[in-house]
Amino acid sequence: MQTSKAETRQILTQYVSCDVLLKHCMAVEAAMEAYAKKFGEDEAYWGAVGLLHDVDFDLYPNDHPNHAREILTKYNYSDDFITDVESHARDWSQERTLLQKTLLALDELTGFIIACALVRPDKSLDTLEAKSVVKKMKDKAFARAVNRATIIEGAMSLGVDLKEHISFVIEALATAAKRPEYQNPPLL
Ligand SMILES: [Fe+2]
Repeated sequence: MQTSKAETRQILTQYVSCDVLLKHCMAVEAAMEAYAKKFGEDEAYWGAVGLLHDVDFDLYPNDHPNHAREILTKYNYSDDFITDVESHARDWSQERTLLQKTLLALDELTGFIIACALVRPDKSLDTLEAKSVVKKMKDKAFARAVNRATIIEGAMSLGVDLKEHISFVIEALATAAKRPEYQNPPLL
């Protein structure tokens, strides 16, 4: 089923009440759209997968994403769409598609980039450089919950250089942060 961004957001907010998680989903949405555009894929579809990828996390933090299917079938999402959402399970055993690899490559990275922006004096993505994100990745005390290996492996599986990947995602998030649909709540 094809829904508008606003409708998709409405579905998400029925299941996600925490602002931090909502912003995370929005960031993954924006970055998925940017990669879809780069790869010549369906931006709306990739964005919706990104936005809904953690739809069951608030309700089932210890059994996520295993409840995405029961939620998303209520809204007539296709089997393929739901499989794409489920595919970011870290123990996913099947070979991931390009979309699925991209989702995994963005899940941890978007949050890490935003954390890097928030500790800058201007709290902005506009002046953030990939090299400072790479440097922060080596600082184990910084944003310690973020799994660095997943970020590195994500870029490798996509076949992109880590620094270029980070630069691309910074740019995608910085652009999205200025768009009206990313003001409420603000992306960072
Ligand atoms: Fe996530």
